[in-house]
Amino acid sequence: MKIIGILGTQNRKGLTAQLLDEVLRGAERAGAETSLIVLEESFDPTRQDEVRKLGKELKQADCMIFATPTYFGNVSGSMKQFFDHLRDYFVHLTSKGENIPHLFKGKSYVSITSCYKSAFENMLAGITDATFNQIDTVMSQAGMHRASELVLTGTFQMDELPQKKREEAKALGEKLVERVERGGFTLKRYLQLFGMLAISTLIVMGIQKALQVVHFIPADGFWVNYLVFVIIFFLFLSGMLRLVTIHNHKRR
Ligand SMILES: Cc1cc2nc3c(=O)[nH]c(=O)nc-3n(C[C@H](O)[C@H](O)[C@H](O)COP(=O)(O)O)c2cc1C
Repeated sequence: MKIIGILGTQNRKGLTAQLLDEVLRGAERAGAETSLIVLEESFDPTRQDEVRKLGKELKQADCMIFATPTYFGNVSGSMKQFFDHLRDYFVHLTSKGENIPHLFKGKSYVSITSCYKSAFENMLAGITDATFNQIDTVMSQAGMHRASELVLTGTFQMDELPQKKREEAKALGEKLVERVERGGFTLKRYLQLFGMLAISTLIVMGIQKALQVVHFIPADGFWVNYLVFVIIFFLFLSGMLRLVTIHNHKRR
């Protein structure tokens, strides 16, 4: 299995680079063949031959790891340039102007970022969400599967990774080989969906029963009960989906 790390940062020895190094080291330990592309050092997007060379190299990968600090609430400029200049590799543009997955379809990816703001602020305000969303936007159009995410917060005046983060990064790398082999299919996702539906239905039916007990709705009117069920279910599910969206990204 081939895993390629792509680093887009102003700071080659910075914390984002250190996180990526640890993940790659963990993946190597689990038997993967790894390599690293440092965008600032080895990628000039204005040169077509370099874009082609990089595209060719990435075609060999089973998994790409995108590592970028959060700059002004999003990915670094070099990472954005990388996505923009490799657009033809990620997506194919149809005659109707639609993007469809192209040469990297079915591959896996991991997103890594870091930011000054504390874990608490990130939990509350989702400082790094736009960074992850930016990567997810490109990858979903490219038909690639998200294998994992990693974030480091509170990096102000920090030079070295805290030991706990170092271990988390290494563990992620070690597990990555297995996750990539599983690809997009995860039984866990189906089980989560089933669990979410089962719990939602139970709660909505409970509320409906309570409304019947207090005679707010009749117990035997089929259409009234159906309508009330649909309305409560809709409100409940919208709330649940909102919560899932908020918790979609790692924030600490
Ligand atoms: C141009 C620039 C913009 C930044 N914008 C943000 C930001 O919007 N929010 C934040 O929390 N940190 C911001 N930071 C801080 C970096 O995200 C943080 O220092 C990060 O951990 C740097 O990673 P590195 O050690 O790999 O360079 C910014 C830093 C730079 C240089």
